Amino acid sequence: MNTRSFPDWMAATQARTEAALSRHLPGADSIPARLHDAMRYATLGGGKRVRPLLAFAAGELSGATPEKLDIVASAVEMIHAYSLVHDDLPCMDDDVLRRGRPTCHVEYDEPTALLVGDSLQTLAFELLATQAIAEPVRQLEMIALLAHASGSRGMAGGQAIDLASVGKPLTQPELKLMHALKTGALIRAAVLLGALAGEPLSGDERNNLDRFAKRAGLLFQVVDDILDCTANTATLGKTVGKDEAADKPTYVSLLGLDAARTYAEELRGDALDALAIFGTRASRLTQLADYICHRQF
Ligand code: IPE
Ligand code: IPE
Ligand code: MG
Ligand code: MG
Ligand code: MG
Repeated sequence: MNTRSFPDWMAATQARTEAALSRHLPGADSIPARLHDAMRYATLGGGKRVRPLLAFAAGELSGATPEKLDIVASAVEMIHAYSLVHDDLPCMDDDVLRRGRPTCHVEYDEPTALLVGDSLQTLAFELLATQAIAEPVRQLEMIALLAHASGSRGMAGGQAIDLASVGKPLTQPELKLMHALKTGALIRAAVLLGALAGEPLSGDERNNLDRFAKRAGLLFQVVDDILDCTANTATLGKTVGKDEAADKPTYVSLLGLDAARTYAEELRGDALDALAIFGTRASRLTQLADYICHRQF
């Protein structure tokens, strides 16, 4: 049983993730140096590392070793970092600030940012395909799961719906689908891959973990929508008020701030319900659901 306080565990897992990412990214001096430097800029030295934290917490349920979780966490975080670099491009959200620093295309240039995304995405899969994590059939399942979560029926598909929805009022089911895809899919993958890196869970456990993961993923984006309206730019490390300025449909634009907050609490409760069968084995996931719901940045 992990007896460390949640903040201590979180800080240690974030530091561990940073070290693993740094090890697996190409060196900044290796050719092509500008691209590699930009990949490291976009991935290291910032971010809450929520997906790695979820992978490590889920890995505790199945007894996955930290070394295997390093690989899973790095692969998922590389996909996430790639998604942020592309999300910030002028042709998408056109943002200049990310993690308290200039966005990748501002610090480098647009073609480099495009290639950073391409390269981080393929590096994530290279890692998962070349490092021993599980027996081969299970490892293939993990690779397929992350590929599905990243593509047109996952994150990229959600981003497509996001771009097509500017200026359009979506219904709540439509908005839920958009959020489940653009953000939820990768969060779900982080949880499931963390668990898959250890001993097999029972069918019942896996179903409940999946329910948790879907709810936590949606919760994460509902809170992101709320923070875009309520946080300040310095704390958030990205420009606030962008959703309203760009006329994006969000839970705040659909429900209003108070109802969006109530919905977030409801999703948090639903996520915790799904963890009930795990008892104290899921204490880190429980703490993470609370953190995702109540975070200030
Ligand atoms: C921001 O993700 C983009 C969304 C999917 C909402 P995070 O809030 O996890 O960003 P970092 O990694 O902490 O910077
Ligand atoms: C981003 O959603 C989702 C992905 C990057 C896939 P947002 O566009 O709301 O994320 P932020 O607010 O820029 O971090
Ligand atoms: Mg976006
Ligand atoms: Mg954005
Ligand atoms: Mg946002």
